[in-house]
Amino acid sequence: MRIDIVTLFPEMFAGPFGAGIVARARAAGVVEVALHNPRDYTHDRHHVVDDTPFGGGPGMVLKPEPLFECVEALQAQARGHVVLLTPQGRLLSDAVARELAEQARLIVICGHYEGVDERVREALVDDEVSIGDFVLSGGEPAAIVLVDAVVRHVPGALGSQQSLAEESHAGGLLEYPQYTRPAEYRGMRVPEVLLSGDHAKVAAWRREQSILRTARRRPDLLERARLTVAERRMAERVARGQRVDVRPRLFRVVVPVGEVDRAAAFYAQLLGFAGERVAPARHDFDCGGTILACVDPRADDGGLRPSAGCVYFAVEDVAAAYDRARAAGARITDRVRRRASGERSFYCRDPWDNPLCFADEATVFSGGRSVP
Ligand code: ADE
Repeated sequence: MRIDIVTLFPEMFAGPFGAGIVARARAAGVVEVALHNPRDYTHDRHHVVDDTPFGGGPGMVLKPEPLFECVEALQAQARGHVVLLTPQGRLLSDAVARELAEQARLIVICGHYEGVDERVREALVDDEVSIGDFVLSGGEPAAIVLVDAVVRHVPGALGSQQSLAEESHAGGLLEYPQYTRPAEYRGMRVPEVLLSGDHAKVAAWRREQSILRTARRRPDLLERARLTVAERRMAERVARGQRVDVRPRLFRVVVPVGEVDRAAAFYAQLLGFAGERVAPARHDFDCGGTILACVDPRADDGGLRPSAGCVYFAVEDVAAAYDRARAAGARITDRVRRRASGERSFYCRDPWDNPLCFADEATVFSGGRSVP
């Protein structure tokens, strides 16, 4: 594989590429890495590579001509897949690194300053990659990371391809814990199973540890991990236990009504949507994830008990809710009031005497005092 890096700061690569896996892969002839400075493709006396943005604004933008000329000179030798490093690109992952490692030639452009002229993106670049949701002062550190992650996947670059297969992220899971000699250090013992010599048991333990670790540290990875049904069940149980927010969520408020048909029509007009008949004696309205269940308590509905007290709704427009309540036939017990917290709200009762309150969501959810 050949990797050409287009950079204004080629000297930044000497250290990282002079040792470790990239240096080894280069020495073994598995990858060839070359650096190119777009400054060498300028035609003015001062070798200018950047300019102020059209339309104004802070910072400088990389000019299109040196980048186009540099990349076109490289493409004339042999076609390459052109990658621009930018925080706006697709996120680098093991899968992306593997995909890029399949290219015979990569041309990697390091962005700089406030960015690159948009025409570079449009007409020169095949792919945009970001190494994370943070902004570096330039693409060079990102290129070093990208090249390292890619080279590991080039056949022959690593001592053992098995270590690649077992690594973190390889199967969509984090790697299991690793230990080496001594078997006991400062009272900390290596798990017995690893000393057992039973390869099947070791493999099973490692698999379980990978899943547990992923579920605890990176539950977001579980969705795409390759797991058996039983493994997935275990992982999801663990991930749920690790949720930071373990507060119960309110999922249903039950209002007792005399006639479900009439209640369905009343609340549909009041709330502005039709809701759903889920049982002969029950009509539900999904209010932003919490169900308002209108239930005839005299009918056998499966045993839902009425929730006590006033039902509070947060609405975008309190005045419109007030008009709807009147039109639906609610008994208005109050005019629209503004409280000291700034919150606007009014109270009313449905035809079965259930108290309801409508308050404006802007103040309800803005950290101000909630409805009393
Ligand atoms: N250039 C600046 N920030 C970057 C990032 N997060 N990833 C890739 N290139 C960048």
